[in-house]
Amino acid sequence: MDYLSITGPSRLQGEVAISGAKNAALPLIAATLLSDQPCTIENIPQVADIRTLLKLFEKLGSKFIFEEHTLTIDNEAIDNTIATYDIVKTMRASILVLGPLLARFGRCEVSLPGGCAIGQRPIDLHLKALEQMGALIEIKNGYVVATAPEGLQGAQIIFDKVTVTGSENIIMAAALARGKSVLINVAKEPEVVQLCEILSAAGVSIEGIGTGELTIHGTDRTPLTFDPFAIIPDRIEAGTYLCAAAITYSSVTLTNVRPDHLDAVTAKLHEAGCRIESEGDSMVLYPAARLKAFEISTAEYPGFPTDMQAQFMALATQAEGVSIIEERLFENRFMHVSELQRLGASIHLKGNTATLNGPIQLLGADVMATDLRASSALVLAGLAASGVTNVHRIYHLDRGYEALHEKLKSLGAKIERLRE
Ligand code: UD1
Repeated sequence: MDYLSITGPSRLQGEVAISGAKNAALPLIAATLLSDQPCTIENIPQVADIRTLLKLFEKLGSKFIFEEHTLTIDNEAIDNTIATYDIVKTMRASILVLGPLLARFGRCEVSLPGGCAIGQRPIDLHLKALEQMGALIEIKNGYVVATAPEGLQGAQIIFDKVTVTGSENIIMAAALARGKSVLINVAKEPEVVQLCEILSAAGVSIEGIGTGELTIHGTDRTPLTFDPFAIIPDRIEAGTYLCAAAITYSSVTLTNVRPDHLDAVTAKLHEAGCRIESEGDSMVLYPAARLKAFEISTAEYPGFPTDMQAQFMALATQAEGVSIIEERLFENRFMHVSELQRLGASIHLKGNTATLNGPIQLLGADVMATDLRASSALVLAGLAASGVTNVHRIYHLDRGYEALHEKLKSLGAKIERLRE
């Protein structure tokens, strides 16, 4: 197993290109199941989660070539609609094949994802919505067995909670359903918006894109034809590099970024004393004279993203005063707290709120990555800490950050990827 060894404190400088968004690429690759024609997608990040999804596609009978950042995929010959446990257990987002497989083939089986490091994460809302569209859902031997022999029927669906992959699954299902679906309380994340835009370009009539209410006119199982398209830049990767610049009091330029997708993140960096200038698809962070404490409460887009909570906790260790971070989306997303404490951070955790006192001079130590974003927080803390920080179990980082250590190294960080 590999680990990252960081010698801090670091000072960064230069430019870093942001990769395509993993969380946009996953549903859009799943959406190609709605087509029986070859389709080309560009700007796909080279990360483990994408390779996991493609492994699942291989098992389904899909034919594809994934080179550099371009995927050409042909789902004409799909002859299997079972997403098996060995794949789903490594990546919950495999659930994204449920809606499109059921919509196109009228039957599929997807292993139940089960719990994960950041909480229980049920899929009840995905299943309830599909039932409202006429699907028969049974849980058998740990699998969701879904059937809709006559195809799915458009329906009015009110999501009890805003769910990102839940919205995406039902949007894809509605695209091939019979008649009109009205989806209420849909997620508004940029990744959901891109999915709608691409489906719309493929001929599905969708009203309300970017709002919480979508009206989708299904094609009644007529497969879609996608023109080539490119995945949007990864706003979480971008936010992580902005935090890397802020925590090391450095000036860094990001390229291939969508500044408008990062408003909640840049507002908090501003509150912490940093200055950010955006022009077109690039952003420059100018460091604070002295980082100031801030308060964060995670929320659905356009609120502050839960996927940036851990990175901002690392930043708060360096900010003067008392920072308060409230996690409102997931019940157990504080696994990074005890690891940050190993580096010397002063964090008091009560329920879903962390209170931090800063600034603290962090001291390098061995720490363990626990989930994707928690791991990047440890890397950020390692950049600020003095001495050597070894971040173990970085397969979590590999799931969602393309070439993290190369990118940080090119910015001047002293970081090595080593074998245990
Ligand atoms: C997606 C993102 C993840 C991000 C999260 C929240 C992908 C691949 N992953 O995850 O990076 O952290 O959005 O922005 O895009 N819930 C239910 N029942 C359901 C579905 C969800 O109760 O059927 C709850 C969850 O437990 C959680 C909340 O809804 O408390 C939001 O979860 P959701 O938006 O579904 O997260 P994911 O789509 O899994």
